[in-house]
Amino acid sequence: MLSETKNLTWPEFQALSPEEKKPYFNENGKIFHCLHSQQFDREFIDHIYKLTNVIRSISKSKKGALFLQGLMPHYKAMLYFMQPSTRTYLSFRTACQILGIQTSDVRDASISSEVKGETFEDTIRTFSSYFNFIIMRHPKEGYAEQAAYCLNNSERPIPILNAGSGKDQHPTQAILDIYTLIRSFEHHGGLEGKTIILAGDLLRGRTVRSLSKLISFFPGTKLILSSPEKFKMSEDVISFLKEKKVHYTVSHEFVKHLPDADAIYMTRVQDEHDTGNDKSEKSFPEFSLRAEHLPILKEHCAIMHPLPRREELDSAIDNDPRAKYWRQERNGMWARAALMSHITGYDQKIMCYWADICKQANHTADI
Ligand code: NCD
Repeated sequence: MLSETKNLTWPEFQALSPEEKKPYFNENGKIFHCLHSQQFDREFIDHIYKLTNVIRSISKSKKGALFLQGLMPHYKAMLYFMQPSTRTYLSFRTACQILGIQTSDVRDASISSEVKGETFEDTIRTFSSYFNFIIMRHPKEGYAEQAAYCLNNSERPIPILNAGSGKDQHPTQAILDIYTLIRSFEHHGGLEGKTIILAGDLLRGRTVRSLSKLISFFPGTKLILSSPEKFKMSEDVISFLKEKKVHYTVSHEFVKHLPDADAIYMTRVQDEHDTGNDKSEKSFPEFSLRAEHLPILKEHCAIMHPLPRREELDSAIDNDPRAKYWRQERNGMWARAALMSHITGYDQKIMCYWADICKQANHTADI
């Protein structure tokens, strides 16, 4: 059972640690609301990795695609996106299509009843009257959690999937990023022990904040946190890394670390979060990966970016086999389908279907 939040005010609930929040977000130990990456563990990541590969393989045939589309036609998802989005919105939407889930969206606050003064809580409850999932992106940190807090006390507590909450978290991006990293090193000794550079605006980049937390599941993996001084990784993530004994280096240099990297994760300046007159530069040339750097990178270095990009990632790199960002983008669709099938328990059916296919074809179900 999902714990009710009735006995706690919202500020009291907000003050709980991620560990204390788990019973409110997980049901019988399994993810229900997907809100931040501290909810995940290695077992979950390994399961989603396998499930993503299985869904990807099953989808290749018409018969397989129809099987997947037949799984959840009785489910509906609301895509509530209050911040600009291309990839996350489309990948969630196509993930829903893969599983036969019907979708609707609200992408513009000016056409929602919020302009008539409806509260955020009432908007969320209204969505829960019609839908089985709320997939939401919001400029305010904590709003996805507040939606879960409010629905846990209602008679229709449906899953909330955080598709980006302000500067704070982007847990489903972290799932697809870790999937891409594991897949990139599948034939190169695994992700354990690898050196990963996270570069750019680490202070306000929610993708790197969520991803850093998952690195702790892969022993021996080293992080180089490379950013301009004013955009260095914030203390909460640093203390998490310390607590989990993740080997990390904070650096205000970039190019000098490139030869050591097994993966480089670039990010853009998150200037939508600028406040007052303090306007950021559009990009930092010294934290840019350019074609001229390619010769100094390792042969199997994985170049990643959550996209959209600006000058920090030279498009002349796109055709280099080490550029993984277009695959990373596509991986998001499969990984999000895996997540939604896991939350609803349809992953069991998918795994059984795959095991049957493998039995018929006489090959192992390992993928
Ligand atoms: C990121 C985001 O929105 O946080 N994009 C994405 O979801 N793929 C990164 C960004 O906008 O820079």
